Amino acid sequence: MSQQHTAAPATDSATATVAGHRRDWWREAVIYQVYPRSFADSNGDGMGDLEGVRSRLPYLRDLGVDAVWLSPFYASPQADAGYDVADYRAVDPMFGTLLDADALIREAHGLGLRIIVDLVPNHSSDQHEWFKRALAEGPGSPLRERYHFRPGKGAAGELPPNDWESIFGGPAWTRVTEPDGTPGEWYLHLFAPEQPDLNWEHPAVGDEFRSILRFWLDMGVDGFRIDVAHGLVKAEGLPDLGSGEQLKLLGNDVMPFFDQDGVHAIYRQWRTILDEYANKMGPEGPSSEGRWWETGGRIFVAEAWTPTVERTANYVRPDELHQAFNFQYLSTAWDATELRTVIDGTLEAMRPVGAPATWVLSNHDVTRHATRFANPAGLGTQIRTAGDRELGLRRARAATLLMLALPGSAYLYQGEELGLPDVVDLPDEVRQDPAYFRGEGQDGFRDGCRVPIPWTRTGSSYGFGDGGSWLPQPASWGELSVEAQTGTAGSTLELYRAALAARRDQPDLGAGDTLEWLRAPEGVLAFRRGEFVCVANTTGESVTTPAYGRVLLASGEVAETGGEAKVPADTTVWWTAAV
Ligand code: GLC
Repeated sequence: MSQQHTAAPATDSATATVAGHRRDWWREAVIYQVYPRSFADSNGDGMGDLEGVRSRLPYLRDLGVDAVWLSPFYASPQADAGYDVADYRAVDPMFGTLLDADALIREAHGLGLRIIVDLVPNHSSDQHEWFKRALAEGPGSPLRERYHFRPGKGAAGELPPNDWESIFGGPAWTRVTEPDGTPGEWYLHLFAPEQPDLNWEHPAVGDEFRSILRFWLDMGVDGFRIDVAHGLVKAEGLPDLGSGEQLKLLGNDVMPFFDQDGVHAIYRQWRTILDEYANKMGPEGPSSEGRWWETGGRIFVAEAWTPTVERTANYVRPDELHQAFNFQYLSTAWDATELRTVIDGTLEAMRPVGAPATWVLSNHDVTRHATRFANPAGLGTQIRTAGDRELGLRRARAATLLMLALPGSAYLYQGEELGLPDVVDLPDEVRQDPAYFRGEGQDGFRDGCRVPIPWTRTGSSYGFGDGGSWLPQPASWGELSVEAQTGTAGSTLELYRAALAARRDQPDLGAGDTLEWLRAPEGVLAFRRGEFVCVANTTGESVTTPAYGRVLLASGEVAETGGEAKVPADTTVWWTAAV
């Protein structure tokens, strides 16, 4: 963890340390995503909660991560699992109270872990006070200006104001019934109808979110993951797309509702707030009580789906956000050539802006990588078939070791350290993903990666809680539990623990922004970083490579003879030249 990193010179305020805690800890941090609904349930209602997360923090410390990002736990009707926020300053009773949030943050800090919370600024819930009043006050209500209300097209306003589609399927507009009972205006929602888009041209919206940032910063959080960071600003006049092919264009083109240049002014403002907090304790940092987390280093990470990694780099210019998720990497197949292209492209794009590259394989919106890699490439990130599980797990373990060897920061999604597959056969009646019910959308099968994680071999919901779990867990999950894998040689959990421990001990891992590619057989990636060498065999055959020193860690069995190593199919090896 960060406290074990070598202290940087105290004169450099950007890297000042308190008890070894670096201000720019995030440049090479491993950040673990907790999905609160599915992590641990303390009160036996079948739904995870903050107290459950708090009680499991020692597990995360022992796993060896630097920070925890929590998906939303705010007051919400849960139309989109909490990404529909009704009150940004309250904890939903389903997850606990503000006091629980406070206890969680304090206890995490006590264990040397940072806490990053999710901020959802693109849209609110339709149960947010502003939206409820906007509806109740009828056309002309000033509250309607904080959202995108428009009259419909057609003789009687019966058609949506433009041709945009919701990411979850169907039109991006819903017509309201006015207080007098007549069909009235339409409002924009890029996601579910219960998630009306906020109008960021309205000054009250910016004021409110700056205040929300301060609220959570005052609570002591170390950063924010910004939901749909690319969506806040819409093109002037909300122009038609003029194409029925929206789903194909998404992610490949700049859309009138995504990745508009105007979003950057918002982030520049937000950055000044964060920097103000970062410097609160003065450039020297340490308070007399040694409260290391107050010495700065609070961060923003953008969820920004953009057409290219170069456009992603715009979000992490020096006066904007600190990190952006690398979805290009997440979407890359287990293929050496494609991986190398994305790795090089990422490092090249980030270097000019001075931001660290980030790497991610799984999150709460995509099929877990153990299942993606169990299926043929090219199926996208929402997969409905289990595929070859053994192959998927072997590749997933290899892919993780490759990711953790790259320069920059890495994101892990809860349960991947157990090698969990997606649950592809959930009965329809238990599904909750709103996209599933709207059909034809981009997503729809996200419940499969949200099944509560197993802690113990047996017992109610395998230790998740005493009252079952909101999504059923497969019977085989007892054997994948934390209990079953702890101390078991070769288990995926022990592989993650060893990898994260090695990352702490090896200064060449994670740090910097370069790597030196080595000659390698086709289908194999090999690179050097200082004394460290990583070889990833993405092929289905074993390959022979030079033995690069002492094997630090491998995702499979490596055999070495006479200076050569036999690396099995779909296996990654870490070597160090150090004795
Ligand atoms: C982000 C979240 C996703 C959510 C969507 C709408 O993409 O990660 O879970 O459905 O935003 O808020």
